[in-house]
Amino acid sequence: MKTLLFNSLALLPNKVGDYLYHEIQIFFDKMTLESKLKSVEATYFRLNTVVEKVLIPVEDKTILEIGSGWFPAMPYFFLYKLNAKKIITVDINEHFTSKRIAELNSLFSKKYSCKIDSNINSRLGLPEEVDYFSNYDIVKHELPKVDIVFSRYVLSHMEEKDVVALHQKCSSKLAKGTIIVHFISPSDLRAHGDASISLYDFLQYSKPEWEKIHTKFDYNNRLRLPQYLAIFEQCGLEVLYLEYQSIDQGSKQYQLFKTIQLHSDYAQYSEEELTAGNIFVVLKVT
Ligand SMILES: C[S@@+](CC[C@H](N)C(=O)[O-])C[C@H]1O[C@@H](n2cnc3c(N)ncnc32)[C@H](O)[C@@H]1O
Repeated sequence: MKTLLFNSLALLPNKVGDYLYHEIQIFFDKMTLESKLKSVEATYFRLNTVVEKVLIPVEDKTILEIGSGWFPAMPYFFLYKLNAKKIITVDINEHFTSKRIAELNSLFSKKYSCKIDSNINSRLGLPEEVDYFSNYDIVKHELPKVDIVFSRYVLSHMEEKDVVALHQKCSSKLAKGTIIVHFISPSDLRAHGDASISLYDFLQYSKPEWEKIHTKFDYNNRLRLPQYLAIFEQCGLEVLYLEYQSIDQGSKQYQLFKTIQLHSDYAQYSEEELTAGNIFVVLKVT
Protein backbone atom coordinates (compact mmCIF):
# COMPACT_ATOMS: atom_id res chain seq x y z
CA MET A 1 0.00 0.00 0.00
CA LYS A 2 2.77 2.39 1.05
CA THR A 3 4.79 1.61 -2.09
CA LEU A 4 1.70 2.31 -4.20
CA LEU A 5 1.03 5.56 -2.34
CA PHE A 6 4.62 6.81 -2.69
CA ASN A 7 4.67 5.80 -6.37
CA SER A 8 1.50 7.87 -6.93
CA LEU A 9 2.99 10.88 -5.09
CA ALA A 10 6.13 10.62 -7.22
CA LEU A 11 3.99 11.22 -10.32
CA LEU A 12 2.84 14.62 -9.02
CA PRO A 13 4.77 17.87 -9.56
CA ASN A 14 7.62 18.10 -7.01
CA LYS A 15 6.11 20.79 -4.78
CA VAL A 16 2.68 19.12 -4.56
CA GLY A 17 4.18 15.68 -3.96
CA ASP A 18 6.52 17.01 -1.24
CA TYR A 19 3.67 18.85 0.50
CA LEU A 20 1.34 15.82 0.45
CA TYR A 21 4.15 13.55 1.65
CA HIS A 22 4.77 15.89 4.61
CA GLU A 23 1.04 15.97 5.51
CA ILE A 24 0.60 12.20 5.11
CA GLN A 25 3.58 11.54 7.38
CA ILE A 26 2.06 13.80 10.05
CA PHE A 27 -1.35 12.12 9.70
CA PHE A 28 -0.01 8.58 10.08
CA ASP A 29 2.51 9.44 12.75
CA LYS A 30 1.14 7.97 15.97
CA MET A 31 4.33 8.25 18.05
CA THR A 32 4.36 10.96 20.69
CA LEU A 33 7.15 13.51 20.78
CA GLU A 34 8.16 12.02 24.13
CA SER A 35 8.70 8.53 22.68
CA LYS A 36 10.60 9.97 19.72
CA LEU A 37 12.80 11.93 22.10
CA LYS A 38 13.44 8.70 24.03
CA SER A 39 14.74 7.09 20.87
CA VAL A 40 17.11 10.01 20.20
CA GLU A 41 18.16 9.89 23.87
CA ALA A 42 19.32 6.30 23.28
CA THR A 43 21.56 7.61 20.49
CA TYR A 44 22.89 10.31 22.79
CA PHE A 45 23.71 7.70 25.48
CA ARG A 46 25.51 5.55 22.90
CA LEU A 47 27.44 8.54 21.63
CA ASN A 48 28.27 9.79 25.09
CA THR A 49 30.13 6.62 26.13
CA VAL A 50 32.27 6.92 23.02
CA VAL A 51 32.83 10.67 23.46
CA GLU A 52 34.66 9.69 26.64
CA LYS A 53 36.31 6.51 25.33
CA VAL A 54 37.54 7.81 21.97
CA LEU A 55 37.90 11.31 23.34
CA ILE A 56 35.74 13.06 20.76
CA PRO A 57 36.12 16.72 21.67
CA VAL A 58 32.54 18.07 21.65
CA GLU A 59 32.78 20.79 24.28
CA ASP A 60 32.86 24.27 22.74
CA LYS A 61 32.91 22.81 19.24
CA THR A 62 30.82 23.54 16.17
CA ILE A 63 28.88 20.61 14.78
CA LEU A 64 27.20 20.03 11.44
CA GLU A 65 24.19 17.72 11.60
CA ILE A 66 23.23 16.26 8.23
CA GLY A 67 19.53 15.31 7.96
CA SER A 68 17.74 17.31 10.68
CA GLY A 69 14.50 15.37 10.28
CA TRP A 70 11.40 16.55 12.17
CA PHE A 71 12.81 18.18 15.30
CA PRO A 72 16.28 19.16 16.58
CA ALA A 73 16.72 16.65 19.41
CA MET A 74 20.34 15.69 18.65
CA PRO A 75 21.37 19.37 18.36
CA TYR A 76 19.87 19.89 21.82
CA PHE A 77 21.77 16.93 23.29
CA PHE A 78 24.97 18.31 21.77
CA LEU A 79 24.23 21.76 23.12
CA TYR A 80 22.70 21.18 26.54
CA LYS A 81 24.28 17.85 27.58
CA LEU A 82 27.63 17.84 25.79
CA ASN A 83 28.25 21.61 25.89
CA ALA A 84 28.87 22.13 22.20
CA LYS A 85 29.14 25.74 21.07
CA LYS A 86 27.05 25.76 17.91
CA ILE A 87 25.03 23.34 15.75
CA ILE A 88 24.35 23.82 12.08
CA THR A 89 21.63 21.40 11.04
CA VAL A 90 20.73 20.90 7.38
CA ASP A 91 18.07 18.90 5.58
CA ILE A 92 17.16 18.35 1.97
CA ASN A 93 13.49 18.72 3.03
CA GLU A 94 11.74 21.12 5.36
CA HIS A 95 10.08 19.36 8.29
CA PHE A 96 10.58 21.68 11.30
CA THR A 97 7.52 23.71 12.39
CA SER A 98 7.33 26.35 15.12
CA LYS A 99 4.63 24.29 16.87
CA ARG A 100 6.84 21.22 17.10
CA ILE A 101 9.89 23.26 18.19
CA ALA A 102 7.83 24.91 20.96
CA GLU A 103 6.71 21.44 22.16
CA LEU A 104 10.27 20.15 22.06
CA ASN A 105 11.65 23.19 23.89
CA SER A 106 9.17 22.68 26.69
CA LEU A 107 9.62 18.90 26.92
CA PHE A 108 13.42 18.92 26.61
CA SER A 109 13.97 21.68 29.16
CA LYS A 110 11.76 19.91 31.72
CA LYS A 111 13.17 16.44 31.10
CA TYR A 112 16.81 17.46 31.12
CA SER A 113 16.60 20.44 33.49
CA CYS A 114 18.05 23.01 31.15
CA LYS A 115 17.00 26.46 30.05
CA ILE A 116 16.25 26.83 26.34
CA ASP A 117 16.09 30.44 25.20
CA SER A 118 14.34 30.79 21.85
CA ASN A 119 15.99 33.40 19.69
CA ILE A 120 13.39 36.11 19.04
CA ASN A 121 14.67 36.41 15.48
CA SER A 122 14.15 32.71 14.76
CA ARG A 123 10.87 32.14 12.87
CA LEU A 124 10.81 28.62 14.30
CA GLY A 125 11.72 29.52 17.88
CA LEU A 126 15.10 27.82 17.79
CA PRO A 127 17.83 28.82 20.23
CA GLU A 128 20.54 31.15 18.94
CA GLU A 129 23.10 28.34 18.90
CA VAL A 130 21.09 26.22 16.42
CA ASP A 131 21.07 27.22 12.74
CA TYR A 132 18.60 25.30 10.57
CA PHE A 133 18.97 25.18 6.79
CA SER A 134 16.13 23.36 5.04
CA ASN A 135 16.02 22.46 1.35
CA TYR A 136 19.78 22.00 1.68
CA ASP A 137 21.20 18.99 -0.13
CA ILE A 138 24.55 18.42 1.54
CA VAL A 139 25.87 16.67 -1.55
CA LYS A 140 25.20 19.65 -3.83
CA HIS A 141 25.59 22.57 -1.41
CA GLU A 142 28.63 23.83 0.42
CA LEU A 143 29.97 21.77 3.32
CA PRO A 144 30.37 24.18 6.25
CA LYS A 145 33.77 24.07 7.97
CA VAL A 146 33.06 22.54 11.36
CA ASP A 147 34.81 20.47 14.02
CA ILE A 148 32.42 17.51 13.90
CA VAL A 149 30.05 16.19 11.23
CA PHE A 150 27.15 14.13 12.56
CA SER A 151 24.33 12.13 11.02
CA ARG A 152 21.68 9.82 12.44
CA TYR A 153 19.79 7.44 10.15
CA VAL A 154 20.56 9.49 7.05
CA LEU A 155 23.20 7.66 4.99
CA SER A 156 20.89 4.75 4.17
CA HIS A 157 18.48 7.29 2.58
CA MET A 158 21.11 8.60 0.20
CA GLU A 159 22.05 7.11 -3.13
CA GLU A 160 25.34 5.20 -3.06
CA LYS A 161 26.98 7.73 -5.39
CA ASP A 162 25.95 10.51 -3.00
CA VAL A 163 27.38 8.68 0.02
CA VAL A 164 30.65 8.50 -1.91
CA ALA A 165 30.46 12.16 -3.04
CA LEU A 166 29.73 13.34 0.52
CA HIS A 167 32.73 11.53 1.96
CA GLN A 168 35.02 12.66 -0.84
CA LYS A 169 33.93 16.20 -0.04
CA CYS A 170 34.52 15.68 3.69
CA SER A 171 37.98 14.37 2.93
CA SER A 172 38.96 17.19 0.60
CA LYS A 173 37.22 20.20 2.18
CA LEU A 174 37.38 19.61 5.94
CA ALA A 175 40.47 20.25 8.03
CA LYS A 176 42.66 17.30 9.00
CA GLY A 177 41.49 15.86 12.30
CA THR A 178 37.79 16.71 11.72
CA ILE A 179 35.61 14.01 13.24
CA ILE A 180 32.67 12.44 11.41
CA VAL A 181 30.09 10.45 13.38
CA HIS A 182 27.40 8.37 11.67
CA PHE A 183 24.59 6.28 13.06
CA ILE A 184 23.40 4.07 10.23
CA SER A 185 20.38 1.78 10.11
CA PRO A 186 20.99 -0.29 6.99
CA SER A 187 17.70 -2.20 7.06
CA ASP A 188 14.75 -2.45 4.68
CA LEU A 189 12.47 0.39 5.76
CA ARG A 190 9.37 -1.49 4.63
CA ALA A 191 9.97 -3.94 7.49
CA HIS A 192 9.49 -1.17 10.06
CA GLY A 193 5.76 -1.04 9.43
CA ASP A 194 5.21 -4.71 8.63
CA ALA A 195 6.45 -7.44 10.97
CA SER A 196 6.12 -10.11 8.30
CA ILE A 197 8.81 -8.47 6.15
CA SER A 198 12.42 -9.15 7.04
CA LEU A 199 14.80 -6.29 7.77
CA TYR A 200 16.88 -7.79 4.94
CA ASP A 201 14.05 -8.41 2.49
CA PHE A 202 15.48 -6.01 -0.09
CA LEU A 203 18.60 -8.16 -0.51
CA GLN A 204 16.67 -10.52 -2.79
CA TYR A 205 16.30 -7.98 -5.59
CA SER A 206 18.53 -7.02 -8.47
CA LYS A 207 19.40 -3.32 -8.79
CA PRO A 208 16.79 -2.63 -11.53
CA GLU A 209 14.10 -4.48 -9.54
CA TRP A 210 14.87 -2.47 -6.40
CA GLU A 211 14.84 0.82 -8.34
CA LYS A 212 11.23 0.10 -9.31
CA ILE A 213 10.10 -0.64 -5.75
CA HIS A 214 10.95 2.65 -4.08
CA THR A 215 10.57 6.35 -4.82
CA LYS A 216 12.31 9.51 -3.60
CA PHE A 217 9.88 9.51 -0.64
CA ASP A 218 11.02 6.18 0.75
CA TYR A 219 14.49 5.99 -0.79
CA ASN A 220 16.58 3.33 0.87
CA ASN A 221 19.96 2.20 -0.45
CA ARG A 222 21.04 -1.34 0.39
CA LEU A 223 24.69 -0.72 1.28
CA ARG A 224 26.04 -3.34 3.68
CA LEU A 225 28.61 -2.65 6.42
CA PRO A 226 31.67 -3.73 4.34
CA GLN A 227 30.50 -1.45 1.52
CA TYR A 228 30.26 1.55 3.85
CA LEU A 229 33.70 0.78 5.25
CA ALA A 230 35.15 0.45 1.73
CA ILE A 231 33.70 3.88 0.81
CA PHE A 232 35.19 5.51 3.92
CA GLU A 233 38.57 3.92 3.23
CA GLN A 234 38.45 4.81 -0.47
CA CYS A 235 37.82 8.44 0.55
CA GLY A 236 40.88 8.40 2.79
CA LEU A 237 39.01 8.54 6.10
CA GLU A 238 40.32 6.71 9.14
CA VAL A 239 37.90 4.59 11.17
CA LEU A 240 38.45 5.53 14.83
CA TYR A 241 35.59 3.50 16.24
CA LEU A 242 33.06 0.97 14.96
CA GLU A 243 30.15 -0.67 16.72
CA TYR A 244 27.20 -2.58 15.28
CA GLN A 245 24.57 -5.13 16.27
CA SER A 246 24.81 -8.72 15.13
CA ILE A 247 21.68 -10.72 14.50
CA ASP A 248 20.64 -13.21 17.17
CA GLN A 249 20.43 -16.64 15.53
CA GLY A 250 17.47 -17.59 17.72
CA SER A 251 15.43 -14.56 16.70
CA LYS A 252 12.40 -14.22 14.41
CA GLN A 253 14.46 -11.82 12.26
CA TYR A 254 17.06 -14.53 11.71
CA GLN A 255 14.34 -17.01 10.65
CA LEU A 256 12.98 -14.40 8.21
CA PHE A 257 16.50 -13.70 6.93
CA LYS A 258 17.01 -17.41 6.23
CA THR A 259 13.89 -17.52 4.04
CA ILE A 260 15.30 -14.92 1.64
CA GLN A 261 16.79 -15.99 -1.66
CA LEU A 262 19.74 -13.60 -1.67
CA HIS A 263 20.51 -11.85 -4.94
CA SER A 264 23.90 -12.82 -6.39
CA ASP A 265 25.13 -9.23 -5.73
CA TYR A 266 25.26 -10.17 -2.04
CA ALA A 267 26.72 -13.66 -2.35
CA GLN A 268 30.24 -12.46 -1.45
CA TYR A 269 29.26 -11.31 2.05
CA SER A 270 29.03 -13.35 5.24
CA GLU A 271 25.81 -13.50 7.27
CA GLU A 272 27.46 -11.26 9.86
CA GLU A 273 28.27 -8.65 7.20
CA LEU A 274 24.86 -8.83 5.57
CA THR A 275 22.90 -8.47 8.79
CA ALA A 276 25.11 -5.98 10.68
CA GLY A 277 22.63 -3.42 12.00
CA ASN A 278 22.47 -0.21 14.01
CA ILE A 279 25.93 0.84 12.90
CA PHE A 280 27.78 3.52 14.85
CA VAL A 281 31.00 4.65 13.24
CA VAL A 282 33.46 7.44 14.07
CA LEU A 283 35.77 8.63 11.29
CA LYS A 284 38.64 11.07 11.14
CA VAL A 285 39.77 13.21 8.22
CA THR A 286 43.46 12.43 7.67
C1 LIG B 1 15.25 9.05 8.47
S1 LIG B 1 15.43 10.77 8.52
C2 LIG B 1 16.42 10.96 9.98
C3 LIG B 1 16.18 12.29 10.62
C4 LIG B 1 16.93 12.53 11.94
N1 LIG B 1 18.36 12.57 11.73
C5 LIG B 1 16.57 11.50 12.97
O1 LIG B 1 17.45 10.79 13.44
O2 LIG B 1 15.38 11.40 13.31
C6 LIG B 1 16.59 11.15 7.24
C7 LIG B 1 16.68 12.64 6.98
O3 LIG B 1 17.79 12.90 6.11
C8 LIG B 1 17.42 13.90 5.19
N2 LIG B 1 18.32 13.80 4.02
C9 LIG B 1 18.42 12.78 3.13
N3 LIG B 1 19.33 13.06 2.18
C10 LIG B 1 19.86 14.28 2.47
C11 LIG B 1 20.83 15.12 1.86
N4 LIG B 1 21.45 14.75 0.73
N5 LIG B 1 21.13 16.31 2.44
C12 LIG B 1 20.49 16.70 3.58
N6 LIG B 1 19.54 15.94 4.20
C13 LIG B 1 19.22 14.76 3.66
C14 LIG B 1 15.95 13.58 4.91
O4 LIG B 1 15.25 14.66 4.35
C15 LIG B 1 15.44 13.20 6.29
O5 LIG B 1 14.94 14.30 7.01
